[in-house]
Amino acid sequence: MKKYRDSQRNLYPHSEIKVELLRIYLEKYFLVLGHSTQIKKIYVYDLFCGPGIYENEKQGSPLVILNEILKVLEKGICSEAKFECFFNDTDSERILILKDYISKSSINKKNIDTSYSCKDYEIVIDEVIRKNNSLGDREKSFVFIDPFQYKNIRLKDIESLLNTKKTEILLFLPTQFMFRFESNGTPQSLKSFIEDLVPYDEWPISITGIDFIYSLKEHFKWKLEMISILILL
Ligand SMILES: C[S@@+](CC[C@H](N)C(=O)[O-])C[C@H]1O[C@@H](n2cnc3c(N)ncnc32)[C@H](O)[C@@H]1O
Repeated sequence: MKKYRDSQRNLYPHSEIKVELLRIYLEKYFLVLGHSTQIKKIYVYDLFCGPGIYENEKQGSPLVILNEILKVLEKGICSEAKFECFFNDTDSERILILKDYISKSSINKKNIDTSYSCKDYEIVIDEVIRKNNSLGDREKSFVFIDPFQYKNIRLKDIESLLNTKKTEILLFLPTQFMFRFESNGTPQSLKSFIEDLVPYDEWPISITGIDFIYSLKEHFKWKLEMISILILL
């Protein structure tokens, strides 16, 4: 049994806000898709999914996703569409907890396909990009990316997913952590992350964490021209 820090065993208030933002985003996203009877399949990917349920009984992203889909099904929104959810986390114990919880819950009896994997993000993101490139006209996909760290998040992957024109992305980045290092001997991983966006010598020095978030958001927007939503906590 792995030893987890308290903040990994329990969902803290700031993470509760993150999953609430995810919930609100999905509510709106499904509502928009629901206006089209053309959509036949909606894929939802949670690439750093965690255990789903925490020791303080708070629900993490996989359960928030599934509950939003259940609400949609109950209300008859997207009634023509089938949902397929894919949950990934390198930590196999967390995936076991999630699978076990879902298999015992009422979610299991509903018409939602779920699949699980314990792969590294860097491997799984390539698979998701390939899959998303082959989506049909009546298929859409939503990708939720909620890492502890930022080092394996690469702009080219986000760009490839958005280029499919069928995918929306909700990306959370640990910006406080990134800012702390930006102002204190920037490590190579942060330089590489920034250099994906702009030559490092053009990156503005941030006085506060908020400045850093603003720069990151603006450079993401300029670089990608479009980005569904970028939430930075
Ligand atoms: C911030 S937590 C995710 C929390 C989750 N979204 C929730 O709402 O409960 C990040 C998760 O990523 C997993 N993880 C860490 N490195 C990973 C990697 N390289 N690829 C995939 N998952 C990873 C961790 O085990 C952890 O469960």
